[in-house]
Amino acid sequence: MESSGTALSCTRAALLLLHLGLTSSMAQKNEFQTGLVGGEVTLNCTETSSLLTKPIFSKEPSFIAGRSDIKMQYKQLSVRDLKLSDAGIYTCEYGTHKVHTSLHIVNLEISLDGHFLQNEVAKLILTQNSSSPLPDLSITLFDNNNNRVTPEIQKKNLQEYIVNLKKLETMDSGTWVCQIHSDSPLINQNISFPVKVLGFQNPDLERKYATVDSAVILSWRLNSQKIKWKKGFTGQINWKQQEGAESHVLLDFDITAEQLHETKKSNNLLFEIPESKPESHIEVKLPKVHFNHSGQYQCQLEYERRHAQSKIELVVMKVSANPAGPLSRGASVTLTCQVSGPLAPDAYLSWEPVNGSKMDIKKSKQREVKLEVTISTAGLWSCDLIEGSDKKISFRYHVEEASVWIINVIIGASIGGSLLAFALGCLCIISGVRWQRRRQRAKRMAQARQHLAPKMGKDCFQERGAG
Ligand SMILES: *[C@@H]1O[C@H](CO)[C@@H](O)[C@H](O)[C@H]1NC(C)=O
Ligand SMILES: *[C@@H]1O[C@H](CO)[C@@H](O)[C@H](O)[C@H]1NC(C)=O
Ligand SMILES: *[C@@H]1O[C@H](CO)[C@@H](O)[C@H](O)[C@H]1NC(C)=O
Ligand SMILES: *[C@@H]1O[C@H](CO)[C@@H](O)[C@H](O)[C@H]1NC(C)=O
Ligand SMILES: *[C@@H]1O[C@H](CO)[C@@H](O)[C@H](O)[C@H]1NC(C)=O
Repeated sequence: MESSGTALSCTRAALLLLHLGLTSSMAQKNEFQTGLVGGEVTLNCTETSSLLTKPIFSKEPSFIAGRSDIKMQYKQLSVRDLKLSDAGIYTCEYGTHKVHTSLHIVNLEISLDGHFLQNEVAKLILTQNSSSPLPDLSITLFDNNNNRVTPEIQKKNLQEYIVNLKKLETMDSGTWVCQIHSDSPLINQNISFPVKVLGFQNPDLERKYATVDSAVILSWRLNSQKIKWKKGFTGQINWKQQEGAESHVLLDFDITAEQLHETKKSNNLLFEIPESKPESHIEVKLPKVHFNHSGQYQCQLEYERRHAQSKIELVVMKVSANPAGPLSRGASVTLTCQVSGPLAPDAYLSWEPVNGSKMDIKKSKQREVKLEVTISTAGLWSCDLIEGSDKKISFRYHVEEASVWIINVIIGASIGGSLLAFALGCLCIISGVRWQRRRQRAKRMAQARQHLAPKMGKDCFQERGAG
């Protein structure tokens, strides 16, 4: 396949196809050329520049006035900003010679001006016009990765072809090529055109995991910068606790040429807009997650009254002990681990002794959101949420032994001797035990949180710019 290619914007670009099948000695020549609507074409009067006679172009008159130039020196007529109606036969005369050029015009129109939101479908309309019989074009399409795509093509008549593309994804953004071909007259031409698909770089379904009281950042990565989307658009982030529940708008945003402007909308939920964040990121930060902050967080874009959205499901885990506090010898404690649903189909909870206990791992049934374990020995326990074979989040809980500490204090106090000292000692123990329990509880929670961060990895737990 031989051809001359010009990679230009399709809707507004010119292409030239010239067939010089005749020898220059003939008095009459017939030529064929193709131009693209919006583009430019140059019609040659002759190949030889030795002729001095002034060329006369027959079709030059008024309808292309203001869009055309005759270059005497090269005996050329060039026409800019081509229109479908410019199709026709252009005759040039010099002396006894005549050159007839049949100008064939093609228009490629892209729906929505080539600016799409993710999941929208694109349509191409190819139109041609010519004074000679219209060729039956074969159309081949190549995507931004130069892979051949096989779209559905409707041929309304020889004049108009409609090409329907599948739903576009953000990664379809780039330069596409529409190749048109005909054997007679020979047309072999590539028309390139830009496709921009605005949307999110987040995965289709994103789950984010957090433990109660930790900080979490929900982040949507837009591709506007990446695809050099120049037009302004708006959007919002909203939250609803579950399907069917009332939706709360957390913030509105407005993106105009490189500028992001955000407005906080809700007081229902304690959240912040992080000050510094990567470009093209829309984020909300929950500095201290409550169990009831779980649910669907949706970021919605709006461009010319069309919408695209991406959801993040926040799953929160909490652990409680009953009775709370250190474990006395012979007693037992029930640890309850709970996550907010809904969970992935293959997700389950597991209580696992980390150290200090020889008990077996206890697992929940799939998709169960609550798991209890009753233990009678002190030690460190971990509740894990597992999806498939991935540990998504863990909460560590330290069950301490109370008896050792209390007995030690009682012995210490009785050695002191006097009844008064003993009585005072007892008072101290009582308040000491209370104080110690409080301190230990606080310490345990802090430890539990610290254990989380390194374990979780950035895909399921993110704590940036804490404080
Ligand atoms: C048109 O583009 C396709 C895909 O990029 C390429 O394979 C082909 O060689 C090009 N043809 C012309 C005539 O430039
Ligand atoms: C027109 O003629 C010039 C030489 O005068 C040549 O370089 C050019 O390729 C010709 N254009 C076409 C479209 O044939
Ligand atoms: C096709 O070109 C002719 C002139 O050659 C013009 O009269 C006609 O309107 C054009 N058709 C379209 C659809 O523009
Ligand atoms: C969530 O729970 C906390 C207590 O844990 C409560 O103060 C708050 O009002 C609740 N928020 C919502 C939105 O229900
Ligand atoms: C159990 O783990 C905790 C925390 O990692 C550690 O402080 C403690 O020393 C461990 N105990 C035993 C018996 O290994």
